[in-house]
Amino acid sequence: MTRLIYYTACTLDGFLADPQDSLDWLLRQPIDEGGPNDYGRFIAGIGAVVMGSTTYEWILRHDRDGWAYAMPTWVMTSRDLPLPEGEPDVRFASGPVRPVYERMAAAAAGKDLWVVGGGDLAGQFADEGLLDEIVTSIAPVTLGAGRPLLPRRFDLELIDVARNATFITARHRFVGPLREDAA
Ligand SMILES: NC(=O)c1ccc[n+]([C@@H]2O[C@H](COP(=O)([O-])OP(=O)(O)OC[C@H]3O[C@@H](n4cnc5c(N)ncnc54)[C@H](OP(=O)(O)O)[C@@H]3O)[C@@H](O)[C@H]2O)c1
Repeated sequence: MTRLIYYTACTLDGFLADPQDSLDWLLRQPIDEGGPNDYGRFIAGIGAVVMGSTTYEWILRHDRDGWAYAMPTWVMTSRDLPLPEGEPDVRFASGPVRPVYERMAAAAAGKDLWVVGGGDLAGQFADEGLLDEIVTSIAPVTLGAGRPLLPRRFDLELIDVARNATFITARHRFVGPLREDAA
């Protein structure tokens, strides 16, 4: 059964990046590559990827070794953006996320789907009831402001929690709109 997973690192106060889209605070953290929630095991189960344009442009600016994703990748944008070098399978889309989800699920052939970020894009999938899990690696950092992890009001269920080096890693099942907001 294909699941849509929002897998990301964030700060203890719930930011993906600082207000200038810097990830310097994250990139200097140690990580145990074989440890809980490690990227290698996660990405092996992923068949398609989706991200917003800010995240895509950050990756284009920083991926000096070429495009990192071997699987089909959708970039949500209303603009004309360049493709990465080397002609990887990157597709642009805009508007409602459900048709994108359906195309991703077909391309993934039974593997899981990864929403890389940002937080509002993950929220768009959650609003449609399409998000299954949120997997976070929480860095020992606060930023006070920046790009939010998930700018919505949702109930989640904690499935698993562990430590990886200096990170708290957690898996949450998406439940739905915050109970207090239900009519
Ligand atoms: N900590 C981590 O592990 C981690 C993970 C992921 C991302 N990040 C960082 O966090 C930041 C996230 O940036 P962000 O919050 O701006 O989010 P984002 O999702 O990367 O980009 C948002 C932009 O995507 C486009 N977009 C989103 N949904 C769309 C839709 N349905 N249709 C058309 N276009 C759509 C819009 O831009 P346009 O239409 O103008 O193109 C929107 O302004 C970035 O700096 C990224 O590098 C960090």
